[in-house]
This record gives sequence, structure tokens and C-alpha cells, in this order.
Amino acid sequence: MLVTGGAGFIGANFVRSTLQHRPEYEIAVIDALIDPHFTRNLDDVKDSIAFRQGDVCDTAFVSALVEELGIEVIVHFAAESHNDNAYLFPSRFAHTNVMGTVSLLEVVRSTGVRLHHVSTDEVYGQLALDDTEAFTPDTPYRPRNYYSASKAGADHFVRAAWTQFQLPVTISHCSNNYGPYQHVEKFIPRTITELLVGGRPRLHGSGRHVREWIHVDDHCTAIHAILDRGRLGETYVVGSDDERDNRSIVELILELMGKPSDWVDYVPDRPSNDLRYASDASKLRTECEWMPLRTEFRKEMAGLIDWYRHNESWWWEMKTAVERRYGELGR
Ligand code: NAD
Ligand code: DAU
Repeated sequence: MLVTGGAGFIGANFVRSTLQHRPEYEIAVIDALIDPHFTRNLDDVKDSIAFRQGDVCDTAFVSALVEELGIEVIVHFAAESHNDNAYLFPSRFAHTNVMGTVSLLEVVRSTGVRLHHVSTDEVYGQLALDDTEAFTPDTPYRPRNYYSASKAGADHFVRAAWTQFQLPVTISHCSNNYGPYQHVEKFIPRTITELLVGGRPRLHGSGRHVREWIHVDDHCTAIHAILDRGRLGETYVVGSDDERDNRSIVELILELMGKPSDWVDYVPDRPSNDLRYASDASKLRTECEWMPLRTEFRKEMAGLIDWYRHNESWWWEMKTAVERRYGELGR
């Protein structure tokens, strides 16, 4: 198995859980290490995998590796993944997310390996706060920012690769993940680490935006369920049904870390911060016999706070760079 972006948050968790639970796979990772701090995410498993630093847009490099190692399946995580960064360097999103995926499809076309493409629920756009609708695999695409537009562009190529060339592809659209090794630019790690350095968390806008939160381990088992039982050419939505607004998440973390509930700064919102995402994973649950298991959010959040507390050396330098970038954005 080749895991692209395997040094990132979800990729590294996927590599670790695959080594642990699915020993029949031998794993290779390609990652461009766009943030030098990603290097350390695979430290504890580096002797059990083949790691190559490189760019998924480099079709010749990926093809050669696929041939050399006898790769049978590619799980594609590599991406520019953070919305706030799209305000600072937008074109990188089109390059990596669209062209990187097209490049992998070329590898699939020439070698016949299977590709699982990891997309996001954000491609479906935003829901109203009082809406009862949830995203299904048939929901029309309505991306509203460069991140989701670039992921949507990539998805269209993957879908077309199935219809035009009958390439062996599947796609998943997952909701917001949380867990260890998540970059501190993201909401939950930023909130926890800000409290650990004695600062105050920031809530964008009203803090009323709603996300559906899933533990990264459950996302990883969903991908394996699709690899095992998913149908080629199909799209699956992955979610936990656990919707929460940003303010209630900050309040829970404040409580677990012994701070008052108003220990928070409200900062200007991201322009086009999607109001709400919600996922209907029933197709995945039924067809692939999958369900999320790490669903006790309060307990998971307490464990995650401990993880960031005990791994300060992992995030300390990264945090300084992240806060400098947020300073430029005024949030
Ligand atoms: P991440 O930013 O932690 O990891 C992305 C990885 O891709 C990094 O290791 C980075 O170095 C690598 N990368 C970037 N450009 C590359 C290139 N050109 N070539 C090779 N490697 C490159 O992101 P993440 O949160 O782990 O997200 C992984 C994937 O899952 C992304 O495709 C994202 O769209 C998708 N996703 C994320 C979430 C979430 O909540 N984090 C939810 C749904 C889907
Ligand atoms: O829905 C899936 C998507 O979830 C993935 O595709 C993306 O890769 C992933 O980054 C995530 O996108 P979001 O933009 O939803 O996640 P983020 O953690 O950046 O922000 C979550 C919400 O929290 C959003 O409404 C903005 C808000 N926020 C964020 C930060 C960093 C704050 O209120 N304060 C903050 O400090």
C-alpha cells in the first residue's frame, strides 16, 4: 500500500493503525513534508515502512516507486488541508489538491493500481444552522472557498476517471477529525495548546459555527471498510452524527483544563467560514458494515488534552510559526 501525505495528521494515524491492525499490508509513504515538523509524525514506525520524501505532482517519481515496490493500492491523503492557509497562498491549493490528484490518476492509468481518494464533506458547501439536512454521496457540490473548491476539482477528476477510463477508484468525504498529531493550526489543537501556554483560545466570529466531529481512528477504520467492502466507482460519506458548535467545544476544553467558561477571545471571522456541516453516513454503515467506535467525546477530549500536555516538544516550535501566521490574518 502506498499512503500519500502519510506524514500528516490523518495519514500518520492511518499508517500506525494499519501497521497495528492490518499486518498483511506492507506500507510505503510519499510525503513532501510541506511543514518540516511533519517529519516527526512517523518517528516511532519509521523502521516498519518505506518512506520517500517527494511530491505527488511528480508523476514519474510516483510511478517509479509503484513499480519498484509492487504497490497494489494507493490511499491518497496528500493535500493542502487548512482553510486559513488558503488566504495566504491560494494557488498552492489548486496545484497540490487538483494537479496532485490528476497526477496520481495518471499513475493509476498506467499501472492499474487501485486508488482511494480522501476527500472532505466541505465540498458540499454549508448548511443553515436550523437545517435538518445532512450531506449524502448524492448532495450537489457547492464549495465556497479555495480549499473546498480544490478538493471538489480533484473529486471531479476521480469521478471522471471511473466513467471515462473505468479506473479502479473510490472516494470518501469525511467530517472534521480530531486526535493526536493534528497540526496546531487547526481549531481543537490550537485551543488546547493556547491554554497550555497560558493564553486564551480564539473563537472566530460568533462561535456558533457547527462541525461534525469524528475521532481520527474512526476515519481510518472507515477507509479500511471501503477498501475491503466498498464498490469501485462509488462515493462514501463518513461521519459520526456528533454535531457541536465551536463555542461549546471551547467551553468543554476550558472546563477540562480548569478555566472559567469566558476565558476566550472573540476574533474576526474567516470570510466565508461555512456555518454548518452534517453528514449522513448511512451508505457506508450499510454497504461497508462500518460504525464509529470512539464516540465518547468528553472522554476523548480529556485524553487528547493529556496527549498535547505530554508532547509539548512535538508542537512547541510549530505553534510559534502558526501564531505568527494567524497574527498576519488578524485571527
Ligand atoms: P495534514 O495537513 O495534516 O496532512 C497533509 C499531508 O500532505 C502533510 O504531511 C503534507 O506534507 C502532505 N503534502 C502536502 N502537499 C504534498 C505534495 N504536493 N506531495 C506530497 N505530500 C504532500 O492534513 P490532514 O488533516 O491529515 O488531511 C489529510 C487529508 O484528509 C486531506 O486530503 C484532507 O483534505 C482530508 N480530510 C481532512 C479532514 C480533517 O478534519 N483534518 C477531514 C476530511 C478530509
Ligand atoms: O470538514 C472537514 C474539514 O475540517 C477538513 O476537510 C479540513 O481539512 C479540516 O481543516 C477541517 O476544516 P475546518 O475549517 O472546519 O477546521 P478548522 O479546525 O480550521 O476550524 C473549525 C472551526 O473552528 C471553523 O468554524 C473555524 C473555527 N476556529 C478555528 C480556529 C483555528 C475558531 O473558532 N478558532 C480557531 O482558533
